[in-house]
Amino acid sequence: MTKNSKKVKRIGILTGGGDCPGLNAVIRGVAKPAHDNGLTVLGIQDGFEGLVEGKAIQLYNKDVSGILAQGGTILGSSNKGDPFHWPTEIGKEIKIMDRSEDAIRNYEGWNLDALIAIGGDGTMHISKKLMDMGMNIVGVPKTIDNDLDATDQTFGHDSAVYVLTWAIDRLHTTASSHHRVIVIEAMGRYAGWIALHGGLAGGADIILLPEFPFEWENVYDKVIERNMMGKRFSLVCVAEGAKPKDGEMVVKAKDIKRTDPIQLGGIAELVAKKISDSTGLETRYTVLGHLQRGGSPTPYDRILSTKFGTYAIEMVIKKKFGRMVALKGNEITSVTIESAIAKQKLVQKNCQAVQAAKAVGISFGTDF
Ligand code: F6P
Repeated sequence: MTKNSKKVKRIGILTGGGDCPGLNAVIRGVAKPAHDNGLTVLGIQDGFEGLVEGKAIQLYNKDVSGILAQGGTILGSSNKGDPFHWPTEIGKEIKIMDRSEDAIRNYEGWNLDALIAIGGDGTMHISKKLMDMGMNIVGVPKTIDNDLDATDQTFGHDSAVYVLTWAIDRLHTTASSHHRVIVIEAMGRYAGWIALHGGLAGGADIILLPEFPFEWENVYDKVIERNMMGKRFSLVCVAEGAKPKDGEMVVKAKDIKRTDPIQLGGIAELVAKKISDSTGLETRYTVLGHLQRGGSPTPYDRILSTKFGTYAIEMVIKKKFGRMVALKGNEITSVTIESAIAKQKLVQKNCQAVQAAKAVGISFGTDF
């Protein structure tokens, strides 16, 4: 089915996994130059779900006009549409089926020469398997979590950090007025990048990350120390995947229909309760949740998304398939999708952001 000898004329584009600011900017960045080059662009709806179930619409210039600053995705997305892991209700049971052949059938039926898959880790894993079945794919790295090792940054991350910083700024004034400890929970799944960058930008006093299991005593000591120094409030920025040395991540729910069945959430409430019980300081918590994913992209994300999108379509026209667009330093380049999924990018103790945070007195709830 590989059509590598003929010119690319028809492409599909989809957005997979959790949405984030900048998806529409990428779609626009792909579609406008594609149209200028005489290509037909098919927008596949709801991520891989649309590829399996045959849901797609042709995208014209009017459809991608005026969407640069728009949050979400005009195509819809899903984190349940893995063709290789398709939950199907059979009687009272949910069975996991492989519907990758349906995905291939639709790709061929639509007469596509290539697919641009915009997504994170899960999307790239699925893309690799579909490539092995013969599809021509170019990936574009998206996720607020910024946990893809092959790119210096994913789009969406900057917007999430902006929202977290905005929230910490506001919590600062109320925490200070009421002499309280306020714990704020950030997203990020198993990586601490959002909490680290938002905590650093917002001037949190304690940042708790999944990568550095914390000690309760260490956290209590920091808020008490601040109190004794006359700073009668503290801000704790905790990543949803953070866990104490003697405990586990806090899981809110499990859903086998999702590509990752685990839904994290609840650590801020636990941290707030423990601080209040152990130190006697009045403590509150805020869970920022999907505010970090919604709304308009920051200027940085609009620029990165536009660069990613335009680079991706250039790669498709040149038939550089099996690769994911990536940011290296200030340059957009590409890496193989295989290498893009080889390693998750996690926060390291020696990274500059951690070192800078330590230098200005931010605690990570553990000594290192
Ligand atoms: O991967 C992006 C992300 O927002 C994570 O930070 C978070 O854990 C997860 O998705 C939440 O997913 P959902 O919106 O499906 O609950």
